[in-house]
Amino acid sequence: MANSAANVKVVQRGAHIGAEIQGVDLTQSLDDETFKVIEAAFVEHELLVFLNQPINSEQQIDFAKKFGELSIHPFSPNSDDTPELIMFDNDADNPPFSTDCWHSDETFRADPPLATMLHGLVIPEVGGDTMFASMTSAYEGLSDRMKNFISGLEAIHDFKPFRALFGSDEKSKADLRYYEDRYPPILHPVVSKHPVSGKPVLFVNPQFTIKINGMDEVESRNLLTQLFDQAKIPEYQFRHHWAVDTVVIWDNRSTQHYAVHDYFPQRRKLDRVTIKGSKILAYSETADAKSIQNNKSPLPDNPKIKHGDHKPKRELERQLDEAGN
Ligand SMILES: [Fe+2]
Repeated sequence: MANSAANVKVVQRGAHIGAEIQGVDLTQSLDDETFKVIEAAFVEHELLVFLNQPINSEQQIDFAKKFGELSIHPFSPNSDDTPELIMFDNDADNPPFSTDCWHSDETFRADPPLATMLHGLVIPEVGGDTMFASMTSAYEGLSDRMKNFISGLEAIHDFKPFRALFGSDEKSKADLRYYEDRYPPILHPVVSKHPVSGKPVLFVNPQFTIKINGMDEVESRNLLTQLFDQAKIPEYQFRHHWAVDTVVIWDNRSTQHYAVHDYFPQRRKLDRVTIKGSKILAYSETADAKSIQNNKSPLPDNPKIKHGDHKPKRELERQLDEAGN
């Protein structure tokens, strides 16, 4: 059956992040109207899951290209014919590398990816889930005092985990210098503005963010530890359990993820494609907050639980304030 916008069903799966898209066949082409429904759900729910999609890599690439131009990862092994395609194929002889750490993909770039898409090919019998966190909700859950404090800050991002891929011989050192020239440490705002929703996002991650610009080393480390911990709050998370032919796409501008390394030495194989992003914009509490309050966001009103409705820390802080503490 041909795809049509009328058949698309968006089923929310997480309180703050994650929806399943039903009524779509990714082995068939998508017209613009159908894609618009998917794209709107993608920005709103930040993570989309498509079950039972027996696509080949060409079809995966075609679908990903609907979201934008694809990018090539500088460090990951990829397909010779199709460099946009990264094959994660991990087993006893090839343990997974450096993905069991909360991160957004490739924030060491000046223009980090817009989105990443995975297609499940070989799934371990037990384990191998991917966890996601909404960094929109993670930001919303901060106290107003912390929001004020981090407003306007910038942080330095670096490809630090990939340095371990280079040896100490002369050739490896020269290769590393090549990458250092090409991907120097880069500044991104600590609070970014989502280019479509306009919402603020907490944009620091423990894999690539190394320092808050202009802060003392200890101050920076303490603040970053606290901000990194926001992604660990279960209320902001969604845990995805893989099956063969599940396709997942996440908004890399507003989420972080963590690949759970509990399946070794079983095999897990996923194909990944990445969609190019653009410069990370800074969120301004004075200008941008007003525009969201005035409902100028291009997104329609959504009856689901709003981001940040669950604010245990803020509620406690309010009660303490009221009690005069
Ligand atoms: Fe990743």
